[in-house]
Amino acid sequence: MYLLSMATLLLTDLVAHGKQVPSSYIRPLGDRPNLLYPESSPKLNIPLIDYQEFDGPGRHRVVKEIGLACQNDGFFMVKNHCIPETVVDGMLRVSREFFHLPAPERLKCYSDDPKKTTRLSTSFNVRAEKVSNWRDFLRLHCHPLEDFIHEWPANPQDFREVVGEYSKHARELALRLLEAIAESLGLEKDNLVKALGKQAQHMAINYYPPCPQPELTYGLPGHKDPNAITILLQDGVSGLQVLRDDEWVAINPVPNSLVINIGDQLQVLSNDRYKSVLHRVVVNSQRERISVPTFYCPSPDALIKPAEALIDEEHPAAYKSFTYEEYYERFWNRGLLSASCLDLFKVNN
Ligand code: OGA
Ligand code: NI
Repeated sequence: MYLLSMATLLLTDLVAHGKQVPSSYIRPLGDRPNLLYPESSPKLNIPLIDYQEFDGPGRHRVVKEIGLACQNDGFFMVKNHCIPETVVDGMLRVSREFFHLPAPERLKCYSDDPKKTTRLSTSFNVRAEKVSNWRDFLRLHCHPLEDFIHEWPANPQDFREVVGEYSKHARELALRLLEAIAESLGLEKDNLVKALGKQAQHMAINYYPPCPQPELTYGLPGHKDPNAITILLQDGVSGLQVLRDDEWVAINPVPNSLVINIGDQLQVLSNDRYKSVLHRVVVNSQRERISVPTFYCPSPDALIKPAEALIDEEHPAAYKSFTYEEYYERFWNRGLLSASCLDLFKVNN
């Protein structure tokens, strides 16, 4: 009896073999994915930026491309990003192995307390939301690594080593991207990194099981990421969609590339020059999907506000200053509402 109720905490085990979506996952009419058209939309392509030249003579061009992408799309892909293929493949392999472990083994990490620095959970915020999402996730704090790695799952056997290696590379990439983004805004290259304080780095391993009725529910509903910048690794299965010109379009996986998106904190720091954009995840009936976002966020006590150099008479500060802790609490307690949490911190609010 006990084992059964523990096992059904997770989506993976509750519905793996069901023919219907339980009613708690069904979205109201008018808030369901239209699965017929996104793949055929003509506007699929977000910029694909070759990072190879960032440290060479092509730096200026790379910076310019990144700036344009942050301004126009809020999303872009990078290739030649310096995270070795073996590290990326290993990350996806141990993620898959973890979610394929027997339930009692996985449930050792289960918690719905967001204060826990390592935890397995389901949906988004099970304490706040009305409709559940078709997702289980393992959330890990990653920096400084030695403070957290001993909390991470010890099964699969090489989980800590492989995920630790990936998270170190992801951090390097995040720092290089923040440098490029600062430059593209005309700021000193360490401006953004400094503004984020000591900095935190979190990772989610998202597991979206096949869904018998994907037209009724979401893996994740439309949301904007609350952090500064997200580096998303996805396996070969589609599911991510981004809102462009009022239309949801698919960002299909491109081999050896990563998806980068601007989060709310960079929108604030850039004084609205760069945009945090709505995105969501749809599921499918055929294949499981794994994605690994690295969330690069400010330190909880960092005071976030528009960069001084980006404020003038024509562009007054669009946001009040706040700590990231304040921001995240508001974000978390709302569940995943698509209405932007940023509005709560606007100057004229
Ligand atoms: C997220 C997210 C996208 C994906 O976890 O915030 O947007 O493809 N994930 O899983
Ligand atoms: Ni997201």
